[in-house]
Amino acid sequence: MSLRCLITAGPTREFFDPVRFVSNPSTGKMGFALATAARQAGWTVDLVAGPVALPEPAGVVLYPVVTADEMSRQVDALFGACDILIMTAAVSDWRPKVRHPEKLKKQGQALTVEFEPVPDILTTLAAQRRPGQLLVGFAAETEDVEANARAKLVQKKIDFIAANSVAGPDGAFGAETNRLIVLGADGFRQVMGPATKTVLAQQLIALLLQHLTVHAR
Ligand code: CTP
Repeated sequence: MSLRCLITAGPTREFFDPVRFVSNPSTGKMGFALATAARQAGWTVDLVAGPVALPEPAGVVLYPVVTADEMSRQVDALFGACDILIMTAAVSDWRPKVRHPEKLKKQGQALTVEFEPVPDILTTLAAQRRPGQLLVGFAAETEDVEANARAKLVQKKIDFIAANSVAGPDGAFGAETNRLIVLGADGFRQVMGPATKTVLAQQLIALLLQHLTVHAR
């Protein structure tokens, strides 16, 4: 099957002055591993990535972005053409209300930064999907991993969600290995791993291909 896949990866950065930002410890490894696995499966791959320190996967078109707003606009531009969207990106949920144009000077005072919510990219896209497009999210949880992921699957109206724990030093952020609980809107459930992110990516791509093949019949 000749498929076009759009993958997001890595963190976003939300600045409150030119040199200071709020972000998270996502390294982009899972998204990059998925991009490689999708390419190896013969798919056309667009990869939208926040700031990461990973080499560009061969045969993949990489779109580097920094903020959630930039990621949202880049994904919007590519979404219409894709058959599958996989959002592994750890998109910031809040951004500073004000981005000061110059570096803030410290004068020994406390600093209060006011945040505003960032629109949910996946939810927005799910509401405008065309029939046949497959939407996959990742859930980063520190507690009640499966229940929280299942709630996101329903709330975001997507087809699959891969839940992983980001709690403590053994959490998924930056790790070489991971364990995923993959949940489908149709009641599907499968635990993958613990395994390397490379192996998990290959298993997830195989699973999505199988799902698409069955539903194309
Ligand atoms: N996501 C998104 N846009 C956002 C935040 C998250 O598209 N502004 C996507 C992520 O890429 C991921 C999924 O939504 O595929 C779940 O992200 P996660 O951070 O686990 O959950 P949130 O929906 O942000 O909820 P919370 O932070 O409250 O757990």
